Amino acid sequence: MRILVISGPNLNLLGRREPDVYGHDTLDDIHARLDRRAAELGCEVLTYQSNHEGALIDYLHTHMDDADGAVLNPGGYTHASVALRDAVAAMPFPVIEVHLSNVYAREEFRHHSLIAPVARGHIVGLGPYGYIAALEALIVLSRESGVTGL
Ligand code: DQA
Repeated sequence: MRILVISGPNLNLLGRREPDVYGHDTLDDIHARLDRRAAELGCEVLTYQSNHEGALIDYLHTHMDDADGAVLNPGGYTHASVALRDAVAAMPFPVIEVHLSNVYAREEFRHHSLIAPVARGHIVGLGPYGYIAALEALIVLSRESGVTGL
């Protein structure tokens, strides 16, 4: 089973970016935690980050036929990108939207996600653990749907 973990704009700055909001873990720290959990669960994780809308879309297209699910933190594109939403809607596998911060406790413009209606689920406000929870959820969901033997 192969899960994509995709992070959008400015998430490469985690650890330095607004640490009062996003904490001190870097994206590499989060990816290392995911790799450890994936090894325990016996699945493969492919991590990717880009600050570019089209690159995020291209990455989804590239893996459309060889992934079983995706964890996606679309960053600021969450609230703005129809194109990324359309790409998520086109995927044959479930995509779980993750936000490190509790977007509903922040500015009004962060309360609306263009991605949420086409995502399988949505995890907010749990910090880096949200990525792990999303990975675990994808595995449980696939087990329930009988797609893999996991
Ligand atoms: C974020 C929340 C977004 O509103 C923001 O633009 C981000 C990070 C989060 O993980 O909390 O870049 O997706």
